[in-house]
Amino acid sequence: MIKKYTYGEPLQTGAVVDIIPAATESIEPLELKTEPQFCFEYTMTDDDIVYGLGEANRGINKRGYIYTSFCTDDPSHTEEKRSLYGAHNFIIVDGYDRFGVFVDFPGKVTFDIGYTDYKTLTVTPDEQNVDVYIITGDSLNDIVKQFRTLIGRSYIAPRWAFGFQQSRWGYMCADDIREVVKNYRENGIPLDAVNLDIDYMEKYKDFTVDEERFPNFDEFVQEMRNQGIRLIPIIDAGVKIEDGYDVYVEGVRDNHFCKTANGQDFTAGVWPGRTHFPDFLNSDTRKWFGEKYKFLLDKGIEGFWNDMNEPAVFYSDKGLREALQAAKDAETQDLDINSFFALKDKFTGLSNSMNDYSSFYHNMDGTVLRHDKVHNLYGYNMTKAAGEAFKTFEPNKRILMYSRSSYIGMHRYGGIWTGDNQSWWSHILLNIKMMPSLNMCGFLYTGADLGGFGSDCTRDLLLRWLAFGIFKPLMRNHSALGTRNQECFRFGDTTDFKNIISIRYSMLPYIYSEYMKASLENTMLFRPLSFDYPDDAFAARVEDQLMFGDGLMITPVYTQNAKGRYVYLPEDMLYIKFTSPTQRKYALMPKGNHYIDVALNEVPLFMRKNKLLPLCRPTDCTDNIDDSTFEVIAYADKPCEYILYNDDGFSTDYDKPEHFEPISIKEENGELKVVSNKTIVRVSMFNLNN
Ligand code: GLC
Repeated sequence: MIKKYTYGEPLQTGAVVDIIPAATESIEPLELKTEPQFCFEYTMTDDDIVYGLGEANRGINKRGYIYTSFCTDDPSHTEEKRSLYGAHNFIIVDGYDRFGVFVDFPGKVTFDIGYTDYKTLTVTPDEQNVDVYIITGDSLNDIVKQFRTLIGRSYIAPRWAFGFQQSRWGYMCADDIREVVKNYRENGIPLDAVNLDIDYMEKYKDFTVDEERFPNFDEFVQEMRNQGIRLIPIIDAGVKIEDGYDVYVEGVRDNHFCKTANGQDFTAGVWPGRTHFPDFLNSDTRKWFGEKYKFLLDKGIEGFWNDMNEPAVFYSDKGLREALQAAKDAETQDLDINSFFALKDKFTGLSNSMNDYSSFYHNMDGTVLRHDKVHNLYGYNMTKAAGEAFKTFEPNKRILMYSRSSYIGMHRYGGIWTGDNQSWWSHILLNIKMMPSLNMCGFLYTGADLGGFGSDCTRDLLLRWLAFGIFKPLMRNHSALGTRNQECFRFGDTTDFKNIISIRYSMLPYIYSEYMKASLENTMLFRPLSFDYPDDAFAARVEDQLMFGDGLMITPVYTQNAKGRYVYLPEDMLYIKFTSPTQRKYALMPKGNHYIDVALNEVPLFMRKNKLLPLCRPTDCTDNIDDSTFEVIAYADKPCEYILYNDDGFSTDYDKPEHFEPISIKEENGELKVVSNKTIVRVSMFNLNN
């Protein structure tokens, strides 16, 4: 059951699709406080767990820390950070009571989840104009399903986007990309896409292609397509100020840019130098900017990533002027501890400063809004601009889109990647913990930069991250300019990389099916163990294993030099250890705690009772997958079935019943047999009793 509570006059963010009338009673089980400030409080019992917040730091259980919902461009996700790139204001409290809370508010919201006082949950929106939804249900999964229904169906990516993507900031020309593709193909490592980072553009100008470094771009796109590769260009929020550049000229002429208080176009420094920010909260601007994507669609592009859309501000004119003046003034001063650090802070505080965020304005279809008050809607509306345009230009075709910044509601228009992480072991674990929280908030097409974006990657780190990454819808290796090259062919013998990524491709029909069902049915692809085993108190403590799709559990290794790891089995399970799509070891393992050996080239996977996993023959790219022929691994002692979702992978007729095809285990003459319309070439059947 969902109840909405309205305070003041909330801005309509578009996060929810079901408009429900506001309740008049008090907001139980939360308590509304107005002193010392407007907030909502709840007293937690010792064992209460708090899930949610999507792209947020720390654990699956968010208890014991404080989080600020304010989309932030910060590439150093160390533990003390309170804000990352997304703002996902949905939590579930589970324990004495069980309820979800969604705070629909476009500005800053603080979630103090037992940080100030371990027993107290305090949710503080920056203002008193807010819609708060309280969701109660039979189970954690039920609450999520109700919430996801409220916010509308998640964006659905094309099937090719489930192939492996290679990216790097620093592919300077078409030949760099040809070289990457050649190496993947020659080493037999599957690959479906290469991202184009900012260097494909002419002087970092959106919707341009540098003719010198990427000559005959249309032909290049086609040349790559012929090799089974799609190119995915980046689009940045800031539009370069340059005379004669059409996007800039039109934007100024037609008032599409955010304004300062005195009506000037707000200027901020980003990659291209000085830029203006399109006012994505304005529907005319969205339409205008969305139409620009056609420039690249017409060149054969089928997917994009939207970046720097928190928006990231390196500096504003005003901030830079002040800092430079302070530096000049300091020249003649004897800088002591205070004045030196004050000067330093003038420069370090230049980027993404609240002063700047509170100095420009949006015109949301007639309503003027100061940016900081609606900050979390910016990246969301940039991606909405693209999503709305794709529907017009390609009504029957899925275009890939993922964004860096996001707010709940954006999940209907695109996926997200989780921004600039690092080549740190702790970031594999953070990535594991984030996946279910993101799914709760509607973000299903999502993943982190595999191998880590910043810092130098190592072979073992990349292999371990890939062994987890093969399960994520967005499976992309991406790294920053200046870091060690981390494509899968950069670390000597490529066999292990080939094998691990090929395991992904052999599971692709399953992964795609589970993703599609999660989107269509408003469920989660990745779930904490406690969601599926609510009565198992130990399962609720597990933060480094996830339930995955229908009947699988994943247990990634995320520790340097580890030879394996401890796992908790909430019931007897079939353990499948892959070294390649076809080389596997099996063991039936009883409920409880175990240590499993997992070498660097192995992928551990667990299967629940009476479940089955269809596997196809791996290929070099998704276009070549034969989805008519399968091998089946089953762990069953009674009839059961798996629903395979099978469509062309790019049309938008998602709900057609013929897309859902069962692969069943039926009993015939006292024996269990796999029955399917597909060709089943081999069955590995494990009986619960053997
Ligand atoms: C931002 C993005 C990163 C990209 C870089 C250059 O830091 O998060 O993925 O590579 O910009 O465009």
